[in-house]
Amino acid sequence: MSALQRPQPRPGVLEIEAYVPGKSAAPGVARVFKLSSNETPLGPSPKAIAAYRAVAEHLQDYPDGASTALREAIGRAFGLDPGRLVCGAGSDELLNLLAHAYLGPGDEAILTRHAFLVYRIATLGSGARPIEVPETQYTADVDTILAAVTERTRLVFLANPNNPTGTYVPFDEVRRLHAALPPRVLLVLDAAYAEYVRRNDYEAGIELVATSDNVVMCRTFSKIYGLAALRLGWLYGPAHVVDALNRIRGPFNVNSAAMAAGIAAIEDSAHVETSRAHNDHWLAWLTAEIGKTGLEVTPSVANFVLIHFPDTKGRTAQDADCFLTARGLILRAVGAYKLPGALRMTVGSAEANRLTVEALTEFMGRGA
Ligand SMILES: Cc1ncc(COP(=O)(O)O)c(C=O)c1O
Repeated sequence: MSALQRPQPRPGVLEIEAYVPGKSAAPGVARVFKLSSNETPLGPSPKAIAAYRAVAEHLQDYPDGASTALREAIGRAFGLDPGRLVCGAGSDELLNLLAHAYLGPGDEAILTRHAFLVYRIATLGSGARPIEVPETQYTADVDTILAAVTERTRLVFLANPNNPTGTYVPFDEVRRLHAALPPRVLLVLDAAYAEYVRRNDYEAGIELVATSDNVVMCRTFSKIYGLAALRLGWLYGPAHVVDALNRIRGPFNVNSAAMAAGIAAIEDSAHVETSRAHNDHWLAWLTAEIGKTGLEVTPSVANFVLIHFPDTKGRTAQDADCFLTARGLILRAVGAYKLPGALRMTVGSAEANRLTVEALTEFMGRGA
């Protein structure tokens, strides 16, 4: 059979560069610190682990397809109507569901230059065109987003804060963006790192969702709640969007273990607070200490920092990646995010953070 005769994916699919997750191994190194996927160094709440284990007694049963108890727990924690929540296998699934429900061939979705990669993948996978707009100082810019809106625009993706830059858009600006968008355009606020942000002018978007017909907010249990392995995320949206997503999602898209652990995690606010305090301390420390090595760090409000390396031979991001990996310190190369001169480092344990700063100091101090 010739290549043309065999089954063909829809246009756009083969334009996708498959997502490459952060590295997790350093060949030949006994002790590895994985700082490449923005996972929490404190792990999940012990109560979430216990709840997860308890599900082992009931593996023969299908999960509750409506994630009722989990939506109620999220509703209690955030003061939201559970009827306006959709849970998913990670927020990745929810982002893909949004694209599949609202985009098709001929449509456009706007995303910013260094935005989270899943937006592009989900858009192309739906047969629509991703429209990339420039950022200002590694930060999404409302005016450039608005300038890109056309008759074909159906979605605007905004990661706030963004990964991998760690920057955020103040909420007044998000409101200005929303106010200027045509009502048929759905604004997707991806607030995967919202729990870490300590800024008075930041909001994840709850009120904006509550008061409009064309805004949704996605959240995840993979970061501060420490449940990345279980794949769990949630979305808060207008009733008509929730209805559309519920029609296309898999009938049992969230598994029972994820639901049980998620409920316990969200109820353990003390653990979340400890994780937040750890991040507050070490984010500031890393930004200052890495800065002292002569490297530039983009100011971050999340649980990671973007470190920029010079072009000089021997001191590039690629050289640093090899140097650090050989010491068991695994950071994230971000060439796929159009940042070939940078590495992203997740805020790790005290030990991992200190070792990384020591290694970067050595890297920058050695003869090039
Ligand atoms: C901005 C952003 N959105 C969404 C996600 C996906 O998270 P989840 O693990 O819930 O699929 C990530 C994960 O890295 C992220 O950085």
